[in-house]
Amino acid sequence: MNQVRTSPLAEPPDRKKLARMRILVVGSSGTIGSAVVKALSEHGQDIVEVTHSGGGLTVDLSDTASIEALYDTAGKLDAVVCAAGVAQFGPLEELSDADLAQSIENKLMGQVNLIRCGIGRVTEGGSFTLTSGGLSQKPTAATTSVSMVGAAVETFAKGAAIDLENRYRVNVVSPG
Ligand SMILES: NC(=O)c1ccc[n+]([C@@H]2O[C@H](COP(=O)([O-])OP(=O)(O)OC[C@H]3O[C@@H](n4cnc5c(N)ncnc54)[C@H](OP(=O)(O)O)[C@@H]3O)[C@@H](O)[C@H]2O)c1
Repeated sequence: MNQVRTSPLAEPPDRKKLARMRILVVGSSGTIGSAVVKALSEHGQDIVEVTHSGGGLTVDLSDTASIEALYDTAGKLDAVVCAAGVAQFGPLEELSDADLAQSIENKLMGQVNLIRCGIGRVTEGGSFTLTSGGLSQKPTAATTSVSMVGAAVETFAKGAAIDLENRYRVNVVSPG
């Protein structure tokens, strides 16, 4: 008999369990991150803000040791939101090895490692929410690198949601 499997990206069955969470927001000073912080704060959530170069907690997504250190100092966490990730725009023939490497190491592997390093540190039953972008589904001119890593983030999250089922939810938000 076929079984209906709940989508790993679905809403949690009991939203009350998510009340008053302590949420790490990476990229909290950015356009999207600052709006996320505002919205979550208005809903009574306890936010731990993280930037790259700000005065509070900082992290470099392209440096796994930096992500480990962030978790070591952040304390108890119920959820992680990443609204950061650098990827390089430019025509394919003009993208250098360094451009592609930075896109992979920062926006892709940075978000992958936020989850890998957070397993066992973030409270079980919590969630990880990553950011891709509309270009991951519909590339346009001079966006190969950005589109590539965005699509990889989305596919990684689908697989991670399966592997972490019953421990964490894994989500991706794709801003237009
Ligand atoms: N805005 C859009 O319309 C849009 C559309 C599609 C996709 N996206 C995606 O959404 C994400 C956020 O976009 P945004 O426009 O909000 O970006 P943003 O305004 O440029 O903000 C970027 C945030 O990331 C932090 N950051 C920069 N480099 C970092 C690093 N190496 N490690 C950790 N944090 C770093 C910045 O901290 P500092 O302030 O300290 O530098 C800042 O808080 C990106 O992945 C972007 O590709 C955005």
